[in-house]
Amino acid sequence: MRTSSVVLNTAAIALAIMSETSAQSSVARILIYSATRDFRHDSIPTAVDALVAHGPAANITFDHTEDQTWFTDDRLQQYDALLFLSNTGEVLDEAGKAAFQKYLDLGGNFVGIHSASDCLRNTTFFQKELGAAFDYHPELQNATVDVVGPSHPSTSMLPKAWSVRDEMYNFKSDPRSVGAVVVLSADESSYIDPGPRNFEQGTPHPTAWYQEHGAGVDNGGTAGRSFYTSLGHLNETWQDELFMAHVLGGIQWTLQSNTTRAFNPDGTVGNSTAAGSSGSASSTGSASAVVPRSVAITSCQ
Ligand SMILES: *[C@@H]1O[C@H](CO)[C@@H](O)[C@H](O)[C@H]1NC(C)=O
Ligand SMILES: *[C@@H]1O[C@H](CO)[C@@H](O)[C@H](O)[C@H]1NC(C)=O
Ligand SMILES: *[C@@H]1O[C@H](CO)[C@@H](O)[C@H](O)[C@H]1NC(C)=O
Ligand SMILES: *[C@@H]1O[C@H](CO)[C@@H](O)[C@H](O)[C@H]1NC(C)=O
Repeated sequence: MRTSSVVLNTAAIALAIMSETSAQSSVARILIYSATRDFRHDSIPTAVDALVAHGPAANITFDHTEDQTWFTDDRLQQYDALLFLSNTGEVLDEAGKAAFQKYLDLGGNFVGIHSASDCLRNTTFFQKELGAAFDYHPELQNATVDVVGPSHPSTSMLPKAWSVRDEMYNFKSDPRSVGAVVVLSADESSYIDPGPRNFEQGTPHPTAWYQEHGAGVDNGGTAGRSFYTSLGHLNETWQDELFMAHVLGGIQWTLQSNTTRAFNPDGTVGNSTAAGSSGSASSTGSASAVVPRSVAITSCQ
């Protein structure tokens, strides 16, 4: 609740923006959701462990669930971002989708990884939030992905031509058509794709991208940020520090949305250490099918 409105001059606004983007006011809280209904990647536990292990250094508490009943208004609001990890199929019921949409309308932020683009295929807001739906991939093989587009925290540490062993996803549409900015692009000459080639996804071939504004409703508020990378198939990938830097860079950029409590005094979603709310997400997870994992923030430094 706002108690007063303050008129700021331009210099003060610039200062406020600088301090918002350079200082984290509370530990960010992210919910990893890795439910699957179709194909299940055996790298999911490795991926969750890797994210959780990097939490303290990144100043992030990760909770993890595969329980769709966690998607309620009250619970989602506590997260600075939701991270969909290698999901497949219809991973939310109608109530869960409604809560997810409401979260996005509040300014909620989103990160999608690998086959997160292969779930909730008929859910329009989800498709827009992620940017494009998975179409098909050629066989797992070595390939080169190129850093393209403007400099971004998810790619700034990568070689311009990055050698990876992963699935080179093709998409059913061009994420640029919903406003995404592509930052990584598969070099199609570096691997074999017997087709059918998809010409709807645009060029350069989209592999990772971000959206300043996702699918949330802008009415009276600000839609949050969205980041997606199609990489992340193998266990080995999640044990590669360069890949982790790519993912964590995307997560950090997403968290620096002006909607998160972790970075903004007036944030609309996320962890609020001052809130003194009864019951955190992890303490209410006992009914969950998956044991929530969270990192004790006190172990940080
Ligand atoms: C990947 O790691 C998980 C354990 O985290 C293991 O169960 C699985 O067999 C591994 N996959 C491969 C292909 O080694
Ligand atoms: C999604 O839509 C397609 C085509 O309309 C339909 O065949 C499919 O059953 C739908 N899937 C779900 C999970 O609703
Ligand atoms: C594929 O890349 C991996 C490292 O990601 C490397 O160990 C392997 O030798 C490469 N294979 C080929 C055929 O180049
Ligand atoms: C958030 O940032 C966007 C620009 O990216 C701006 O249009 C919007 O007004 C900002 N919202 C708030 C609440 O500061």
